[in-house]
Amino acid sequence: MTNYNGKIGIFDSGLGGLTVLSSIKKKYPKEKFLYVGDTAFLPYGSKTADTIINRTHKIVKFLISKKVKGIIVACNSASSVALKSLQAAYDIPIIGVIESSITLALKNQSIKSIGLLGTTTTVNSKAYENVLTAKTKSVTLSSIACPLFVPLVEEGWINKNTQIISTIAQEYLASLFNKNQKIESIILGCTHYPILLTQIKKAIDQLGYDANEIDFIDNGTAILEDLNHHIHINDENHYIKSNNLAVLDTEDEFYVTDSQPNFISLSSNILNSNSSIKNINTEPQILSL
Ligand code: DGL
Repeated sequence: MTNYNGKIGIFDSGLGGLTVLSSIKKKYPKEKFLYVGDTAFLPYGSKTADTIINRTHKIVKFLISKKVKGIIVACNSASSVALKSLQAAYDIPIIGVIESSITLALKNQSIKSIGLLGTTTTVNSKAYENVLTAKTKSVTLSSIACPLFVPLVEEGWINKNTQIISTIAQEYLASLFNKNQKIESIILGCTHYPILLTQIKKAIDQLGYDANEIDFIDNGTAILEDLNHHIHINDENHYIKSNNLAVLDTEDEFYVTDSQPNFISLSSNILNSNSSIKNINTEPQILSL
């Protein structure tokens, strides 16, 4: 039976899932979270489906042992290839990030064309296409894998070497726009990409398109649309305005599966650059899975 007072479990291959956590925390500051970053197996984006399914079952079993009330698969690669297997195996709400991202993109009722930036695993899985075509046949989706983006974030290159990031982003985005020049919305289909949004927008402008005319969908914002339909939220009356910072709670717990010496500086850097979470002061515990 669901323990409605339990924490919400949330996991990613690394630290990128903190972008999703921060977004939820901002809307539901009273909720407590248990975060797992599978740093021993990062990146998922270049692993086989079997490896990802195997890892995510281990993580979900751990989260269930901690009596969480629901689980968010914050990782797109895992949502793409493992979500169905997880949902079929456990009697607890488990949600991914793909369905809500497509739903948010389709809120623009005149949209004809969506661009997807994702990992190689996510793009090859066609999971976004499958969700989209189940909802509508009149919107196209063009996907580009951007494998170099994740190491740039995990290595903490967010605020330095921006020229390199911009050059890489231009290379990827050029092929997206060449495929289809009328992209109206871009789904940042990887937890790490919102952190690079400024550089992504700059690269689009440098390619001669206008980033201001494109809707950017990030998983953290999209999941807020219907999170409370899937996972019980205790206190919905504490909504704070989107320009406010979310603050971590001392009861929030962080685990990584391999040592991550830069966790505090890197996660603060990730989240502060996203202007959303302050007060990360918890050393993550090492989890052997
Ligand atoms: N978190 C992963 C995702 O959203 C990106 C990092 C990785 O490749 O593991 O797909």
